[in-house]
Amino acid sequence: MASAKFNRTSQDVGNILAMEHVNVTVPDQLLATFFYVNGLGFTRDPYMDFGPFNVWINVGNQQFHLPTGEPQVLRGTVGVVVPSLSELEKRLTRVARRLEDTRFKFRVNRGTIDVTCPWGNRIRCHPPGKFGHMTLGIPYVEFKVPPRTATGIARFYQQVFSVSAVARKGICEVAVGQGQIIRFKESARPEAHYDGHHIAIYVMNFSGPHSYLKKKGLITEESDENQYRFQIIIDPNSGKPLFEIEHEVRSLHHPMYGRNLVNRNATQSFFGYQHGRDAFRP
Ligand SMILES: [Fe+2]
Repeated sequence: MASAKFNRTSQDVGNILAMEHVNVTVPDQLLATFFYVNGLGFTRDPYMDFGPFNVWINVGNQQFHLPTGEPQVLRGTVGVVVPSLSELEKRLTRVARRLEDTRFKFRVNRGTIDVTCPWGNRIRCHPPGKFGHMTLGIPYVEFKVPPRTATGIARFYQQVFSVSAVARKGICEVAVGQGQIIRFKESARPEAHYDGHHIAIYVMNFSGPHSYLKKKGLITEESDENQYRFQIIIDPNSGKPLFEIEHEVRSLHHPMYGRNLVNRNATQSFFGYQHGRDAFRP
């Protein structure tokens, strides 16, 4: 008989297969692309063209969506992996002067760089190595939530989305796909009023969460046959609202599921051009 030396549950994947994008509105497309493309080194989606009304920014297999509007600020931090922290630091230093009248700033820590976008969104940049084989992408989003909510939030994701969600010491971690995390961290410092930013997730079982959320009156938009939205996370035990963050919930039949996103090699430049090295494959 073969002996059991592997923890087979470590390979399980729940109902949420991917967190694909973070959506925050921005008041100035030129400044936003300067920050996300020139500063952070990400790639403007070359195929989805919205003119001056929106821009999609590719980060490996994930995206930022930046429609034009009043600035929205995510109540927490977006974690990203970049191919090189030292190259990132060089780019951020280069763009700093043109962003000096905004909320842009960055801080180099040991092993990460914390960046604030021109309107206050916090992005923590990691080098490759900590998140599986991700070399460019968005491995996690971390929300600051009110005290004594982490356990109820974990219950919500476990029961509604059948995922592994663990709450420990005021931090709830929701497992997404092959290694992404949606994290909720309790904080005594109240966050600003919710301004409508959102995240998008892809689920295998589309109708199950929908029927739960519909029964509770939590569906906020029946977008189309492949997508719905909700934004209030409740404790399934008490029905008490715990946190607001709009989720764009998409089925695997959504036309954009598994789309091949184009990424560039951000170290490529006119000076010192490397032939055949334009693309970056995360
Ligand atoms: Fe979206």
